[in-house]
Amino acid sequence: MRIGPYTIAPNVMLAPMAGVTDKPFRLLCKRMGAGLAVSEMTISDPRFWNTTKSRTRMDHAGEPDPVSVQIAGTDPAALADAARFNVDHGAQIIDINMGCPAKKVCNVLAGSALMRDPQLVARIVSAVVAAASVPVTLKIRTGWDAEHINALQIARIAEDAGIQALAIHGRTRDQHYAGSAEYATIAQVKAALRIPVIANGDIDSPQKAAFVLQHTAADAVMVGRAAQGRPWLLGQIAHYLKTGEALPDPALPSVRDTLIAHLHALHAHYGEEMGVRIARKHLGWYAKDRPENAAFRAVVNRAQTADAQLQLTCDYFDALIAGVSPELPVAA
Ligand SMILES: Cc1cc2nc3c(=O)[nH]c(=O)nc-3n(C[C@H](O)[C@H](O)[C@H](O)COP(=O)(O)O)c2cc1C
Repeated sequence: MRIGPYTIAPNVMLAPMAGVTDKPFRLLCKRMGAGLAVSEMTISDPRFWNTTKSRTRMDHAGEPDPVSVQIAGTDPAALADAARFNVDHGAQIIDINMGCPAKKVCNVLAGSALMRDPQLVARIVSAVVAAASVPVTLKIRTGWDAEHINALQIARIAEDAGIQALAIHGRTRDQHYAGSAEYATIAQVKAALRIPVIANGDIDSPQKAAFVLQHTAADAVMVGRAAQGRPWLLGQIAHYLKTGEALPDPALPSVRDTLIAHLHALHAHYGEEMGVRIARKHLGWYAKDRPENAAFRAVVNRAQTADAQLQLTCDYFDALIAGVSPELPVAA
């Protein structure tokens, strides 16, 4: 599929996840087979652009093309400024967030709450498309709640305003992450639009990705939570969609090496103190469903230095590889 001048291949994308899809994780997922990895959102309020957090988020040096940056907010003019600002800082695609149910975002009628106000949606998408010299994409949910499924209305507004691709999470805003994603609304929107449609929600295996593509006729799939601790999943999905062959999960030595490289990247990107802290949640995801993982997490979460975190992680995986019960120190 194409977004403006960019070919997105394979048609398997990493979903934007605040606090998860930072540059180290995006680079890892792209290296392991994602066709596109959308950055975490940056809010449209310029007061926050000069914080360390925002500056770290806006660092796209060395990221493969195209760099897609998500923005969130409620005010058309502020969002237009945010789009321009991000394009000046390396964004090659601007993605507007109307899919996030987070309170922080929804209380000010941003994120998925915007879907309640189609006129405001029209003003926002028009303002951002006019301001950005790059393609603009939009991410939405199916609607506000079961009585207000208006993805099709919002999608038409978006297409008319010049949005170049639309991602839809198959849940309403009031569902948050509960229940199951439904794909019928995505199929309905896809059938009505000319621009590419990206299906999102509960895609956690190559087979599920194939099912969703078949049932929606969408142009691409977008994977969020299932990629946490499994950056190789997007490549597995891409391979299955292309060949019909299900690749096995990587062997433990390969998981260990991927994780160690990920830790090094986090420590380098954020600096030691913050890098060690941020790495903890990733460690938990990689260790999930493995033997002694709770004990491992308890120990590794106490590690204060990059060296200790790397050593404990190596020791844990080396023990799993050797087939012995990991010996975990009481304190690190
Ligand atoms: C921790 C977390 C953070 C998220 N942050 C964002 C965000 O910043 N912008 C956004 O559009 N969606 C955000 N989402 C929603 C995801 O992009 C995705 O739509 C949702 O998780 C459904 O896909 P999945 O079932 O594959 O996880 C977030 C989801 C999670 C779990």
